[in-house]
Amino acid sequence: MKGIILAGGAGTRLHPLTKVTSKQLLPVYDRPMIYYPLETLINAGIKEILIISDPVNIDNFIKLLGDGKDFDITITYKVQEKPEGLAQAFIIAEDFIGNDNVTMILGDNIFIGQDDVLKKAVTSFKTGGKIFVKQVPDPQRFGIAEFDSGGQVISIEEKPESPKSDFAVTGLYIYDSSVVKRAKAIQPSARGELEITDVNNLYLADKQLDVVRYEGFWLDTGTFDTLLEAANKVAELRKNKI
Ligand code: G1P
Repeated sequence: MKGIILAGGAGTRLHPLTKVTSKQLLPVYDRPMIYYPLETLINAGIKEILIISDPVNIDNFIKLLGDGKDFDITITYKVQEKPEGLAQAFIIAEDFIGNDNVTMILGDNIFIGQDDVLKKAVTSFKTGGKIFVKQVPDPQRFGIAEFDSGGQVISIEEKPESPKSDFAVTGLYIYDSSVVKRAKAIQPSARGELEITDVNNLYLADKQLDVVRYEGFWLDTGTFDTLLEAANKVAELRKNKI
């Protein structure tokens, strides 16, 4: 299993915090944000990780994390020239993925808890795709799963105006190597991005998408409030450990 952390995006919702630095380098309590998704991949047992960022910020990630030696893993880097979507990461990572399975985590997503569940999902993964959903109060911000009466996911909609549920697709995705082919098959959305939701819908159409409820703490730190909430949660955890 290979790992990808996507640390791109313009981060415009967090201006001026992100005017001169990457969102994924902002502090979340005592560490830069990217440490959290990195830790999630490491705890899941992944040892080969590719970090993808934009041309301006990539050098800072290299300065921060180097070749991964300090974490007992291998880290390599690639540039996403423009923020053209999460699914573009798989095209950029084609050589890195090769014939292996791959777990991608978004650099602004924080998962706390359920390490054993994520590790099992990664280590037992064979083929197709696996995603994790979680109930949220603000479903318009996310990829949202629609369920049939039997509880099976029948579609996923990206940032719907009228969400069909409040189960958001979190930013942790496990795929087989056919994800590269699928990412190449989709067209840019109205916002000009290759949407991961379209990749998920391709797996779904092939009945190859496993949708799991994530029961831990999860946040997309894309707003001031969720950034603060993440920092408060980490602070609480650190203090309880002392
Ligand atoms: C992205 C995905 C969305 C997913 C979310 C999780 O949203 O497009 O489907 O629910 O990450 O954080 P974006 O980062 O573009 O707002």
